[in-house]
Amino acid sequence: VTTIKTHVTQGPTPHPMIKNVIAIASGKGGVGKSTVSVNLALALAETNAKVGILDADIYGPSQPFLLGTSSIAAEVLNNNRISPILAYGLQTISIGNMITENTPLIWRGPMVSRSLQQLFMLTDWDALDYLIIDLPPGTGDIHLTLSQKLPITAAVVVTTPQDLACLDARRAVEMFKKVNVHVLGVIENMASFQCPHCHQDSPLFGHHGGKKLAAKTELPLIGQIPLSAVIREEEEKGKPFFTKETDQSIKHEFRGIANTIIQEISLLPVFEKSKIPPVVKV
Ligand SMILES: Nc1ncnc2c1ncn2[C@@H]1O[C@H](COP(=O)(O)OP(=O)(O)O)[C@@H](O)[C@H]1O
Ligand SMILES: [Mg+2]
Repeated sequence: VTTIKTHVTQGPTPHPMIKNVIAIASGKGGVGKSTVSVNLALALAETNAKVGILDADIYGPSQPFLLGTSSIAAEVLNNNRISPILAYGLQTISIGNMITENTPLIWRGPMVSRSLQQLFMLTDWDALDYLIIDLPPGTGDIHLTLSQKLPITAAVVVTTPQDLACLDARRAVEMFKKVNVHVLGVIENMASFQCPHCHQDSPLFGHHGGKKLAAKTELPLIGQIPLSAVIREEEEKGKPFFTKETDQSIKHEFRGIANTIIQEISLLPVFEKSKIPPVVKV
C-alpha cells in the first residue's frame, strides 16, 4: 500500500485537510465536465482514497442533481463551518446546497470567486486525499482568480471532439499555463457513439478532436469516454453513471483515467511544510 502524499500547488499553501486538489475545467459548457467530475471522483474513491467534490459551477451547479442531494441543505455549524454532504462515499459541497433551486444568482465576478474560496475553506473536509473541483465553464475573470487563489495540485481539461469545443478547451489549457497550474492532460468526452442496434461506432462529433488538442497543447490524452445513452439516462435518474453495475467498458475507461491521474500526481514534487517561509511580523 502506498500512502498518498500532499504535492506542491501552483503557489497557495495546500488546505490542511486536503492532500491534492484536481481542477476539472472546460472551455465550453455542456461538454460533460460535471459528468466526468463525478464519475472520476467515484473511480478514485474505488481505490480506497478519500475523495470529495467541490461544485464550483456557481451559475449552473449540477452536482447536487447528479448526486441526488438537491433536497439537502448544507448544515452550517456553530463555528460557521459547513458540513460536507455525504453521497456515495464522497464528501461533497455545492452552492446548490446553500440556496434553493429557483434562486437566481445575481452575484458579480469578485463575489463569486470570494464565495467559492470560502466554500473551499469553510467546508469541514475530513482528511481528503483528492478534492475534485468542478469548475464553471469558460476562461474568464472568475476562472483566472480561482486558478490563482485556490491551491491546485493539477488540472484536467475536458472537451468534446468538435473543433469549436477544442478551440475553447485550448484557451483553458493556456489559462492554466499562465498561472502555473500543472495540467495533467485532456479527456475527450462523447468521443464516439456506439449504435445500440448495429453496434457500429460512429464519430458523431468528429474524429480525434481530443487527440489533436492534446498534440497541439503537448499534453497527454488521458481518456476517451464514448457518447452513451446509459450515462445520460442514469444522470437523469439523479444517479452517477459509475454507481451502475453494468457497462463495465465505460467504467473501465474511468478507472483508467483515475489510475493515470493517481500515478501522475504521485510523480509531482511532494509538498514540504518546512519550506513554507515563516511569517515575519512587522
Ligand atoms: N459521455 C456521455 N454520453 C451521453 N451523455 C452525456 C455524456 N457526457 C455528458 N452527457 C450528458 O450531457 C449533458 C451535459 O453534461 P454535463 O456533465 O452536465 O456537462 P457540463 O458540466 O460540461 O456542462 C448532460 O445531460 C449529461 O447527462
Ligand atoms: Mg456542469
